[in-house]
Amino acid sequence: MSPPQKLIIDTDPGQDDAVAILLALASPELDLLGITTVAGNVPLSLTQENARKICDLAGRQDMPVFAGADRPLARNLVTAEHVHGRTGLDGPELPDPVTPLQDRHAVDFLIETLRQEEAGSVTIAPVGPLTNIAMALRQAPDIAPRIGQIVLMGGGCFEGGNITPAAEFNIYVDPEAAAEVFAARIPIVMMPLDVTHKALTTTVRTQAIRGIGTRTAMAVADMLEFFERFDEEKYGSDGGPLHDPCTIAWMLRPDLFAGRQCNVEIETGSDLTMGMTVIDWWQVTDRPHNAFVVGDIDSDGFFDLVTERLARLP
Ligand code: BDR
Ligand code: CA
Repeated sequence: MSPPQKLIIDTDPGQDDAVAILLALASPELDLLGITTVAGNVPLSLTQENARKICDLAGRQDMPVFAGADRPLARNLVTAEHVHGRTGLDGPELPDPVTPLQDRHAVDFLIETLRQEEAGSVTIAPVGPLTNIAMALRQAPDIAPRIGQIVLMGGGCFEGGNITPAAEFNIYVDPEAAAEVFAARIPIVMMPLDVTHKALTTTVRTQAIRGIGTRTAMAVADMLEFFERFDEEKYGSDGGPLHDPCTIAWMLRPDLFAGRQCNVEIETGSDLTMGMTVIDWWQVTDRPHNAFVVGDIDSDGFFDLVTERLARLP
């Protein structure tokens, strides 16, 4: 077996972020070096706490968790309590975290780790606003060519937006940061809403997770049942989109996905379309490719993977 892929998850938990973290913790193919947190779904004081609660749940109090940016680069923070609840992780009753918060700033951890590890060996999976990643690139441009790849959840192509008609939440919250990351010449894999809206937590799938019967699986089922109510009402679907774990699933099973290399530019000027990801899917410009944009997913295969992996946790 090849050695595990080194990974840092940058996150704003969030129930779907929680499943992304748990999927990584349950997967021996991945070596999770640390979790960096950012303000997004809820303020930083809650996202860092939520990340630590998730580590506790998985019995991984040894996992280093860092707090990063408490606001976007150039804007006021927009949050999503209307989706994720007041705590960001509404659903299960989780005790106060035991996993400690590290002293170091998330951005310092990113920079130091990328300088220390072999160039090209570390993947970053950002599943919240891209503020920490852009700050690290600003402070230490030398890390850009050392990043193996960025596998991010964000944006939309034909699916449009979910926080405005044009913009997806993670990109909308910090469009300047997103623009800098997409311009940094780092290999990027992008999981837009076009993919994640096909990864629905249907009743059957959530019941299969609950059926595992472990404390982690029951907590995940409680999270998903809370989280999906907002999107079920909005889209009239059975279940809500399990956005963020698509990034981790890509690392484990890229065969579950299909996409193509595209140019992606981020709108930072227009109020109407702020944070829109302008994806040249049909290659109608000669702008250079800067991301592999995923467009399709085998959603049954994806949920089988998530369910099988969650069953490995306590
Ligand atoms: C993204 O926004 C957040 O609400 C989710 O956690 C996900 O990262 C979906 O637009
Ligand atoms: Ca998220």
